[in-house]
This record gives sequence, structure tokens and C-alpha cells, in this order.
Amino acid sequence: MVHHTDVSVVTIERFIIEQEKRHAPQATGELSGILYDLALAAKMIANKVRSAGLADVLGATAGTNVHGETQQKLDVLANDIMIKALDHGGRLCAMASEEEPDIIPIPEGFRTGKYCLLFDPLDGSSNIDVNVPVGTIFSVLKKVTPGPQGELEDMLQSGRQQVAAGYVIYGSSTMLVYTTGQGVHGFTLDPSIGEFLLSHSNIRTPPRGRYLSVNDAYAGDWDESLHSLMRRYRGLEGSRKPLSVRYVGSLVADFHRNLLGGGLFAYPANRQNRRGKLRLLYEANPLAFIAEQAGGGAIDGTMPVLDIVPTELHQRTPLFIGSAEDVELARTVLAPALSGVGA
Ligand code: AHG
Ligand code: MN
Ligand code: MN
Repeated sequence: MVHHTDVSVVTIERFIIEQEKRHAPQATGELSGILYDLALAAKMIANKVRSAGLADVLGATAGTNVHGETQQKLDVLANDIMIKALDHGGRLCAMASEEEPDIIPIPEGFRTGKYCLLFDPLDGSSNIDVNVPVGTIFSVLKKVTPGPQGELEDMLQSGRQQVAAGYVIYGSSTMLVYTTGQGVHGFTLDPSIGEFLLSHSNIRTPPRGRYLSVNDAYAGDWDESLHSLMRRYRGLEGSRKPLSVRYVGSLVADFHRNLLGGGLFAYPANRQNRRGKLRLLYEANPLAFIAEQAGGGAIDGTMPVLDIVPTELHQRTPLFIGSAEDVELARTVLAPALSGVGA
């Protein structure tokens, strides 16, 4: 007797094409092409991340201290992989990266397209030398200016305008999670065949979470409303059941765990980072799009992150992101205190 498994095997390539056919039959396939190129870049970065520890060992035996350098090298390497995997497809008009001061033009000789790609090539890179998950975060916008090359104005659109966003987590397995506005879907890399396979279709984040993620070493910088909010999440004030505290220090890893298990990730402004630390275009917007698509939310303390109109490429924002009810609690506690207090 032949036994058939009831789980079908769906590659990311086939999923992307079928999703596009279903939701945008008139589409040109350009966006699908970008997503597929991103999956390729993810596999290449995963490969480098996997051998990072090894490079460190080899460096040490050669008598040179590559400890700090390896870390830094990986940021640059991941940045280069993203650019090289995506600059020649004819679908992008420009890119922007957390690692580059200005927008990255499409090299002369390559065709340009109608999309912009913004990314954090390696998120949580300070965690590499202790073998903690890192990630890549990306956001896709549609060009709004005329002309073939992308301009700053094309990048400075609110997160609401994103046509796709996602992240890759290089953890115990490598996963790519993305949305094009039709739900959130997750794929796990099968390293033996080099394919991302659909493992988490239509991810929904629980309405109320299990986890609280915040670096409370900055608690000395918090105002009373923020202290009160954190006491509520911990069940020390009000009547909520306390959340469990988990903080990796890799945004992608913290976000991914909370997306699946529910909860609230907070990176408020602090004394060092008066407008917050996380970058609106490369980190907050793409994850906010995912959060909303999964039934959760993201605010900067008062307003939805996706409604912020950026004025700078490397703009930072405070971020409270996660389960709908947990974000709503943040808004009700923080918004009255923050509104009217000049930014
Ligand atoms: P990156 O490695 O891309 O610069 O991002 C750093 C991040 C983010 O991943 C994480 O959530 C945050 O920095 C942690 O900051 P703290 O150490 O201040 O908590
Ligand atoms: Mn980052
Ligand atoms: Mn980074």
C-alpha cells in the first residue's frame, strides 16, 4: 500500500506566482520577481551567517583578532549580497540600505523598473559572535516620481504605501516571512534542497500576547506613563495577567517570536536616542505592515507607525508593536501623556 502525506510541498517560487495570479491577474510579475530575488539573497546571506563562527575560529588560529572585524564584515557582506542579487533585475529604480548613507542607484547599463527596495541587511548583527539569531528586513515601495531613476522622494513615503514587506530570520532554521497585503506567509529553508518551503500559511498573531520584550536597562529614562504601562504588562498594576519577559536584542528574533506567540515589543525613546533607536524605513515600517496583516498593530506611542510620513532616509522612531490588545493598551496609556508634548 502506498501512503501519501496530506501536506503538500509548496516552494516559495510557486506560492508567489500563484498568489499573484489569484489576487492581481493583471500584474506584470515584477513584484514576484523581486520577492524571488530576495529569497535568493536570503539563501546567500544564510550561508555566510552559518559560517561566521568558523571564520572567527580560523582567524584566531591565524593569530589575528578578527573578532570585531568579522562582525562588521558580515554587515557589509549582507549589504553587498542584497545589492548584487537585486540591482540587475530591471524591476527596481533604486534601493536604500541601513548600511549606506544615500540611496543606491541602479548601475548604468541595467534596466530600471517601478519599485524601490529598502532594507536592513543584517539586523541584530552585534549578536553574531554569541550565536544568537540575526535577520534581514525589507520593504518594497512603488516609485512616485517620473523618470527612470529612483529619488529620495520615492523612499520617503509612509509605510501605508508599501506593496510588500518581510524579513528573514537566520535562526535554528532559516525562515522568510512576507506580506503583499494578502496575509502573512512564512517559508522555511530546506537546506538539503536549497528551497524555501511554505511552512506557515496565513499567520495570525494572537489578539493578546504571552511575551513582553523591552530593554529595561533604559528604565531610568522612562517617564511615568511608560513605567505605568510596563507595570500593567507585568500585572503589577491593573488586572491583567502578567506577560513573560523575553528580550533577545535582535529585533527580527524578538518580533518573530512575538508574532507567533503574541505579545508586545517596545523600543521607546531613551536619553541616547531621543527619537527612538529603530529605523522607520528599514525596520519599523516593514514589521508594522506584517504586524497589521497578521491582525496585530504598531504605534510610535501615539499614532500608527504606518501613517508616519518620513522626512529623512535614516529617520528613527519609537516602536510599540505586536498583539492588537497589547498595542491598544500602549496607546491608551501613552497617547494622553505624549500628545501635546512637542517631539
Ligand atoms: P542593527 O543590528 O540592524 O543595528 O539593529 C540593532 C537593534 C535591533 O535588532 C534590536 O532590537 C535593538 O538594536 C537592540 O538595542 P538595545 O541593545 O539598545 O536594546
Ligand atoms: Mn536592525
Ligand atoms: Mn543592521
